[in-house]
Amino acid sequence: MTGESRREGSSWRLAAGNAPPRRLPERLGPYVLGDELGRGSLAVVMRGEHEALGRTAAVKILLRVTQSLFTERFKREAHLAASLNHPNIVSVYDTGVDDGWHWLGMELVDGPHLSAHIAAAGGRLTLKRSLEVAIAIARALAFANDAGVIHRDVKPKNILIAPDGVARLADLGLAKVAGSEGVTATGAVLGTPRYMAPEAVTDGATSIDGRADIYSLGLILHEMITGVVPLRGRGKVLTMQRHVREDVPPLSAAEPSVPPALNAVVYRMTARTLEDRYPHAQAVVDDLTAIAEGRRPPSM
Ligand SMILES: Nc1ncnc2c1ncn2[C@@H]1O[C@H](COP(=O)(O)OP(=O)(O)OP(=O)(O)O)[C@@H](O)[C@H]1O
Ligand SMILES: [Mg+2]
Repeated sequence: MTGESRREGSSWRLAAGNAPPRRLPERLGPYVLGDELGRGSLAVVMRGEHEALGRTAAVKILLRVTQSLFTERFKREAHLAASLNHPNIVSVYDTGVDDGWHWLGMELVDGPHLSAHIAAAGGRLTLKRSLEVAIAIARALAFANDAGVIHRDVKPKNILIAPDGVARLADLGLAKVAGSEGVTATGAVLGTPRYMAPEAVTDGATSIDGRADIYSLGLILHEMITGVVPLRGRGKVLTMQRHVREDVPPLSAAEPSVPPALNAVVYRMTARTLEDRYPHAQAVVDDLTAIAEGRRPPSM
């Protein structure tokens, strides 16, 4: 684990190890950097012009670099993520290291992330819109899962809403780039555990499968419909403990008006025991699509 980042005016500085903080360069790889699009706990995302291709991209620049970044396994995952081509997945274009800056070029999605989208709608979404977003992301997960990619960090900030309203899943297969392998050697929790599946807490990120992503999406669906993320605790550790020790309360407890079939689907998405959870995201797509169309879910 290396250094710290801090913000100075409109530019970020990176402190890697003992190296002095540095100002972001004007260009990285093939990209001329423009405005800041957003930032997370470990990275800043900038608009980038690929001059040779005449294409605008989003360039994610890591501000903290963990050793896992350099592992062959990560490189394989980044390659795999870059090969995923799906309408509900934010494409990865290229990646590189320049002068110590680790960057990743991806498709620019000129719209809000899902948290902002929910906030703009007044704190929750309509049932129709919630289903639309959940189906889009379940499609992305089904496709990724078939390609052997698990997201491991499905959360509203990794769901971007394109100008046409279509939801796109970002940072697929890249949880390790950002070093979010759950808990660091020093015991610090990286990322937000609010959407973390119980087995991701107890078994770590390496042994989990696509069902962990289904759990996270179930919580997000719950949040879109009710405005509340279930099982929140005071602080990260307590929240993680709740996911391990408690069942997600039924959707109908918070929102009695939801159709019973939808209640059952969210219950199966967020089942604490793996055997009770949906085995594959495609089954989630099929059930949610049936509900959206007023049919009986095929798995019921
Ligand atoms: N492809 C993209 N196009 C447009 N904006 C993006 C894109 N990817 C990320 N962003 C914006 O940049 C912000 C930072 O992204 P980043 O993945 O670094 O962090 P995060 O997912 O928000 O949170 P965390 O760092 O806790 O995982 C996002 O919240 C989003 O607003
Ligand atoms: Mg992200």
